[in-house]
Amino acid sequence: MYYDDDIIEQVRSSNDIVDVVSSYVQLKRRGANQIGLCPFHNEKTPSFSVNRNMQIFKCFGCGVSGNVFGFVERIENIGFAEAVEFLAQRAGITLPQKDNRDPEYNRKRSIKESIAAINKEAATYYYMMLRRPGGEIAYNYLKNRGLSDDTMKNFGLGYAGNYSNGLYNYLKEKGHTDEELAISGLFSVSEKGIYDKFWNRVIFPIMDPKGRVIAFGGRIMSKAENAPKYLNSPETELFNKSENLYGLHIAKKTKEKFFLLCEGYMDVIALHQAGFSNAVASLGTSLTERQAKKIKGYTDNVIITYDSDDPGKKAAKRAIPILKNVGLTVKVLNMVPYKDPDELINALGAEEYRKRIEQAVNGFDFEVGLLEEAHNLEDPDSKTQFDHSIAETIALIDDPLARDNHINAASKKYNIDATELKRLVNRIGAALKVKENNEKVQADQKKNRENNPETAKRKTEYILLNLLVQYKEIYFGVKDYLNEDDFSDETEKKIFEYLESDYKRTGVTVGARIIEKFENAEEQKKVADILMTSGDFEDTSGDERRKAFADYITVVKRAAIERKIGEAMSKGDGEKLKVLIAEEDSLEKLKKELLSKKLF
Ligand code: CTP
Ligand code: MN
Repeated sequence: MYYDDDIIEQVRSSNDIVDVVSSYVQLKRRGANQIGLCPFHNEKTPSFSVNRNMQIFKCFGCGVSGNVFGFVERIENIGFAEAVEFLAQRAGITLPQKDNRDPEYNRKRSIKESIAAINKEAATYYYMMLRRPGGEIAYNYLKNRGLSDDTMKNFGLGYAGNYSNGLYNYLKEKGHTDEELAISGLFSVSEKGIYDKFWNRVIFPIMDPKGRVIAFGGRIMSKAENAPKYLNSPETELFNKSENLYGLHIAKKTKEKFFLLCEGYMDVIALHQAGFSNAVASLGTSLTERQAKKIKGYTDNVIITYDSDDPGKKAAKRAIPILKNVGLTVKVLNMVPYKDPDELINALGAEEYRKRIEQAVNGFDFEVGLLEEAHNLEDPDSKTQFDHSIAETIALIDDPLARDNHINAASKKYNIDATELKRLVNRIGAALKVKENNEKVQADQKKNRENNPETAKRKTEYILLNLLVQYKEIYFGVKDYLNEDDFSDETEKKIFEYLESDYKRTGVTVGARIIEKFENAEEQKKVADILMTSGDFEDTSGDERRKAFADYITVVKRAAIERKIGEAMSKGDGEKLKVLIAEEDSLEKLKKELLSKKLF
């Protein structure tokens, strides 16, 4: 936690969950809950419920649940601390200064700030080196690769000279300590001392979407035997390779309806210079899901423009499903006979590249193209393999119409008997369905296990906890009849403990506050589920309500006694067993007593 519990509680209690949710979702009253269409998945009938007493939400459709902080985190896509800040502002609460926060958080934050400051100064240093006497070699290298002065400036390109401590001395003079420099990732540190990591390389600063320099790439200017062509900053508190994209800080402003996804720094730069303001690259590593999601935040369409060599094709094949899975449409651009966008543009110009964009093929055609290359269609065996692979690729298409169209097109283009191809596609499709169905059956079986009597008892425990939290009068009415041993699992026991200590201390409790006491997200979700389990109790009143409640208590207590009987039997504890059996016999009496006393 970055803020202390009291302030979090103040912020929470000043933001009624129903009011907060209402500004995003239209809610209607139903029973004890307000319900509406879930903002976290698509649905036509409302299953998103908010409970004002509990200050909790839960979607019975997709299962998400939590308190007001959880709701804001999800809907605004921010972290917990930011959600606290967001809601504090909404309620007009001034939060204490940052230094009251968790020391670990402060430490990370100050490391990030320090690295960002060092990177900014380092970028300035490299930039100056490129333009100073001695920088000609790098300047000429970039000129020879076709870059204009404007382009060099736009991308902040620089040069790390031929010294092993140029940057080090520069930054020391600016007042940074060795310790700060060591964590920046820009230096090699050993017993021998601390030395510049980049030297004799042209420098590409890597920016985050806000335009902050988070890392550097450096390219060697000549063919060297031992040194790698590119050298990049290591990951630091500030730089996570798998979530950033080179060029995104510029591409995010593009008016184009798609992004061009390439492999290298030089490709992005060459494309921008040629007027393609929508190019990004994934920093020399293979594309990750986080990068795909990041792209989806700015556009719906991607054209992959990876290298035309084998590794490039493999990388494209790998990237297609990753991009599709986050909801992007994907096409692949063909650079042949050139290696990459940089080379194609330098050889043929921007217009030819634009034509290639128009000719880019969808993911399916690209994969079929790869299959075509991998097989010799003149050889009967290889051709048969090819036909089968085509059928497998078509079988993966969901839309039956699209599937038929592809069957017809492929049958003409590759001279495959249409009826046979269709039969093959259907057979593979059927096998896939069987596999899907097996998975579904397994899921159903799991669900059935959850619906067995054991689970029904557990549900009663949940309802009981829900009522104890929601209705103060019920808790004070029945508290002498219950204890934590009546509940079957650790989470429930803890909930009972918390609500009991709240009532004892302050006379009230709140579901949303109980959730806050559990630290891990998994357990918080379970707590929300438990506390949102309300049964039909809400529709009852008076004697009917008291009867329902007496039933809940006896069901829960009976289950607890049976659990203990089991334990006593396995230990062979006869004395204990006798006591427990007597207790079980007296449950009916307890029920009558509960009913006659009119406890609430
Ligand atoms: N890369 C890297 N380390 C290497 C080689 C490559 O980090 N030793 C990354 C760089 O981000 C590079 C990208 O992979 O931009 C693509 O590599 P490659 O295709 O070899 O280089 P190009 O981008 O074509 O670079 P150039 O045109 O300068 O040769
Ligand atoms: Mn290249």
